[in-house]
Amino acid sequence: MYNLLKGKKGIIFGALDENSIAWKVAERAHEEGATFVLTNAPIAMRMGEIKNLAEKTGSEIIPADATSMEDLENLVEQSMEILGGKIDFVLHSIGMSINVRKGNHYTNSNYDFTHKGFDVSALSFHRVMNVLYNKKAMNNWGSIVALTYMAAQRVFPDYNDMADNKAYLESIARSFGYFFGRDHKVRVNTISQSPTQTRAGSGVKGFSGFLNYAEKMSPLGNASALECADYTIAMFSDLTKMVTLQNLMHDGGFSNMGISDIIMDDFIDKTEG
Ligand SMILES: NC(=O)c1ccc[n+]([C@@H]2O[C@H](COP(=O)([O-])OP(=O)(O)OC[C@H]3O[C@@H](n4cnc5c(N)ncnc54)[C@H](O)[C@@H]3O)[C@@H](O)[C@H]2O)c1
Repeated sequence: MYNLLKGKKGIIFGALDENSIAWKVAERAHEEGATFVLTNAPIAMRMGEIKNLAEKTGSEIIPADATSMEDLENLVEQSMEILGGKIDFVLHSIGMSINVRKGNHYTNSNYDFTHKGFDVSALSFHRVMNVLYNKKAMNNWGSIVALTYMAAQRVFPDYNDMADNKAYLESIARSFGYFFGRDHKVRVNTISQSPTQTRAGSGVKGFSGFLNYAEKMSPLGNASALECADYTIAMFSDLTKMVTLQNLMHDGGFSNMGISDIIMDDFIDKTEG
């Protein structure tokens, strides 16, 4: 390991089980010398797995519903106390759509569910940054990252209302990132990750199709959760100090592909000369 985060303090949202991208980020951040607080929705705590991660990484857990300003204020205050100062890095790794969960088609959304999913998956990022900004909780040259998916830019029909949530999330990164950069020298970016087998990922209808298609389309194949964690660590480290307001594609090249040989093969008329 490289001690890339030696002495740095952070808050990591969204580690649910060992498949979670946030789980891998926590393990890698620990290996790179960081100390951090783990947080998740109180309901996710009851599943208990996060305690194993906390033990393994010597971290404390503070429950917080990312849609509650009160919870977030408590989280940030307590984190600064536990960690003994301001925060250097924050990972927002939160996503949930009730329309997806209930199998509601995009063309027939339940708007109460749409509101809830938007609040959890997108607006929560604004709330988190609002609390960090107004409490002046971030150190200069700190780094904030949220995870996103390419359905924010391109149509993936079964990604449903999460596509709209991700578009809003990415926009928040730019809009809030401006003020955070200008006033606190803090950078804000989103990482747009390949389809990955996790609890949130597998909830999407036809997920294996997403996964296999992207694997065959990308020159490097799909990026794993661990590889996403490595990239996130790089974004938290001092090696990326001038990168901000970006949506960073971490997808093995998928987003710039038109067609790959292997997919083309499936469509070629074999009787052609
Ligand atoms: N898995 C993929 O294919 C994929 C691809 C690109 C981006 N992403 C994004 O990565 C992020 C992490 O997802 P994951 O794939 O690791 O799945 P995951 O299910 O392990 O993580 C989602 C997390 O969101 C948390 N969460 C839900 N509601 C919350 C609330 N109200 N307050 C606080 N936390 C809450 C869950 O408890 C869970 O820990 C999400 O933003 C997801 O959209 C995932």
